[in-house]
Amino acid sequence: MNVLIIGSGGREHALAWKSAQDHSVKNVFVCPGNAGTHLEKKISNIDIDSNNFEAIESFCIEKNIGLVIIGPEQPLVMGLTDFLQSKGINAFGPSKNAAQLEGSKTFSKDFFVKYNIPTAGYKSFEDFDQAVSHLEKINYPTVVKADGLAAGKGVIICSNKDEAINALNSIFKDKAFGSAGNRAVIEDFLEGEEASFIAVVSKNKIIPLATSQDHKAVGDGDVGLNTGGMGAYSPAPIVTEYINQKILDEVMYPTMQGLIKEGSPYLGFLYAGLMIKDDEIKVLEFNCRFGDPETQPILLRLNSSLVDLCMAAINDTLDSYSIEWTQKHSCGVVIASEGYPESYESNKEINITEHNNSDTKLFHAGTRYEDEKIITNGGRVFCATALGDNLKEAQENAYNLVQKVEFDGAFHRKDIGFKGIK
Ligand code: AMP
Ligand code: GLY
Repeated sequence: MNVLIIGSGGREHALAWKSAQDHSVKNVFVCPGNAGTHLEKKISNIDIDSNNFEAIESFCIEKNIGLVIIGPEQPLVMGLTDFLQSKGINAFGPSKNAAQLEGSKTFSKDFFVKYNIPTAGYKSFEDFDQAVSHLEKINYPTVVKADGLAAGKGVIICSNKDEAINALNSIFKDKAFGSAGNRAVIEDFLEGEEASFIAVVSKNKIIPLATSQDHKAVGDGDVGLNTGGMGAYSPAPIVTEYINQKILDEVMYPTMQGLIKEGSPYLGFLYAGLMIKDDEIKVLEFNCRFGDPETQPILLRLNSSLVDLCMAAINDTLDSYSIEWTQKHSCGVVIASEGYPESYESNKEINITEHNNSDTKLFHAGTRYEDEKIITNGGRVFCATALGDNLKEAQENAYNLVQKVEFDGAFHRKDIGFKGIK
């Protein structure tokens, strides 16, 4: 079979790398991919704009693609799955309607309330003045969110009313998040520890993936601006068996059943971002895709075939699929460009020292290949990912791998996995 992966990040490098390991897979294509996918055996990058659905369809027909895995949220929210499926192509990802769970915070919050899924109290606004007058009535800190897709950056935690007014100004007036800021949600601040719960879902069937925890803040000790994620590890001890079951019962099944009732049954990776405090769980957000960087450490632990898993979901046979993991722990450390998540420079030449260890994998993210050189091409540039017999060892191995990469302005967090080790 030939497989097509849509996207260009670290998640997509990991999805392509894992798909290519399958003996039944002849070729993996990545649209548009990065230097890492370009350099892998069996994997080729293709230069097609992922907004050009017709061009993707033609490519699938030409190369006899048996499975398309769509990595990022944007093409899912734009309806790429619906389009490809309507042409008879096997696409793994939610429909445009189901992807609203991530595409609109107002949609997802209203959905949580309708189906009794635990979440922070909130109110949604289309009008700046009404939003500002609501600020009189609430406690602080509070959380102000742009409604639409904002690459993980549209969430502002405000410790007082002035900060909340500034946040509303940047969303509604300065249009800092473009049309994602046509509406805003103001929600109660939740305390606790965050975890990512990611599963493969098909209608009313679910296979939870290995547990993981991301590190969203840019600085050590979880300080500074929120990013797309600076590193992740798996498994995450915070998700005990008890919490795991609670997440399934209170969050995942009600969501899957709610979507069926709404006429939009889910297919694809479904990611719940959760806040856990004592034994209480609340949903912070849903993502309609695999997490980045969670994908990288999770897939390094997956012994089963990713392609078979996606096909089982598409063919509605998940209940007879059994998934296997290595008992080892994994840790992924993001190497980013100086300035990220704010402005940063690209086009720096990268030097990677030779390394060869079956327990480590350097996943590329913002890189491109030009004149036989690897060049930086984004904020998050790599995710150095490694296995170990325990989390501490996985962490040490990942940080050893980080040392093999050099470019001007490279930085990383020094404490990925610290909560799991504590
Ligand atoms: P979201 O995109 O909604 O998951 O928000 C991004 C990040 O902002 C989360 O991973 C949390 O770290 C933080 N966050 C979002 N909502 C809340 C909340 N209600 N209380 C505390 N932190 C939050
Ligand atoms: N790592 C967080 C995300 O993928 O949204």
